[in-house]
Amino acid sequence: MAQIRLENIIKLFGKVAAVNNVSLTINDGEFMVLLGPSGCGKTTLLRCLAGLEIPDGGNIFISDQNVTEFSPRRRNIAMVFQNYAIFPHLTVYDNIGFGLKMKKFSKADIEKNVKRAATLLEVDKYLERHPAQLSGGQRQRVAVARAIAMNPAVLLMDEPLSNLDALLRMQMRAELKRLLQEIGATTVYVTHDQVEALSMGDRISVMKSGQIAQVDDPMKVYTDPANTFVGGFIGSPPMNFLVGEVVQSEGGLAVEIEGQRLPAPANLARMAGQKVTVGLRAENIEAGEVKDGPGLPTQVMVVEPLGSHLLLTTRIGGQSLKVVTPVDYPVSPDQPLWLRPDLNKLRWLDAQSGTLLNLN
Ligand SMILES: Nc1ncnc2c1ncn2[C@@H]1O[C@H](COP(=O)(O)OP(=O)(O)O)[C@@H](O)[C@H]1O
Ligand SMILES: [Mg+2]
Repeated sequence: MAQIRLENIIKLFGKVAAVNNVSLTINDGEFMVLLGPSGCGKTTLLRCLAGLEIPDGGNIFISDQNVTEFSPRRRNIAMVFQNYAIFPHLTVYDNIGFGLKMKKFSKADIEKNVKRAATLLEVDKYLERHPAQLSGGQRQRVAVARAIAMNPAVLLMDEPLSNLDALLRMQMRAELKRLLQEIGATTVYVTHDQVEALSMGDRISVMKSGQIAQVDDPMKVYTDPANTFVGGFIGSPPMNFLVGEVVQSEGGLAVEIEGQRLPAPANLARMAGQKVTVGLRAENIEAGEVKDGPGLPTQVMVVEPLGSHLLLTTRIGGQSLKVVTPVDYPVSPDQPLWLRPDLNKLRWLDAQSGTLLNLN
């Protein structure tokens, strides 16, 4: 087991800073997800951790030892890659035992560790087979078993499920989560899939352009995104963002959106007269026909039945707003709809920078 500390990590490729001053602490035994769009630097950061890249700046500590310039072998780390690179000419047994053999473990120790890892990943029946005789999901399990057989203090995984089809991915996601709880290795798991991140991580680091936009536990990242980037990247649909102006009205402070007023918290007073961005999740809005209570008059544009619920795209002035309703909710395109947001769940962000406003 091991704590990982990244301090001001920079990795340049020519003029591009693939990782741009990242600091992050990952606790002993924690499952940390690095989440972000393609090209944001997730793989590069993981490769720095593994010792496959040497950073241009900053330090990496594993269990308080500065390993920044250590070779991969000296780090007690195992890595599972996206394309899971298992060797086609080796049997499953030899694939799983490969790293142990490299490290000159005895035959008996190799056998013990291979069998344990193979059993955990449920590939113990296929030890004599070659990868070509396995399904994609089984090959993926072999790749994970090979990493686990090493008993690493730190397990690094780079989009390990992305080559699997949707159903298998969902199944493996739950299995991996359980497995990692069992073995307790400190894990850094890279994905661009926000559902995977929410479902698996103890915490999520959301990355954007080589930097960390937010580190929090999954529900916090979902309900209280640090900025519009995070709120827009996490959740399906993404968080709604409406631009309005903070105004003083008879009833107290309000935000005026497309000529319609919603109550705003009193500690937003310093923003009076200024634009703000209001963040609200589609499931925190109630749809109704009639104007009862504070809400927004919208027009339905699109109705999407998604099995368990309806996803409506509505319009208010020039802005669009997505809302979720029960599947039997009677609604059709072009009809007007009165939308009542749960006022306690509104989030207030700076209209220019998109960062969450500190209302304390
Ligand atoms: N070996 C490399 N040489 C040059 N540029 C690279 C190299 N590896 C990654 N990059 C660039 O660094 C940025 C981050 O890439 P990467 O870490 O692979 O992102 P992610 O894994 O989040 O998709 C991208 O702009 C990518 O093009
Ligand atoms: Mg990558």
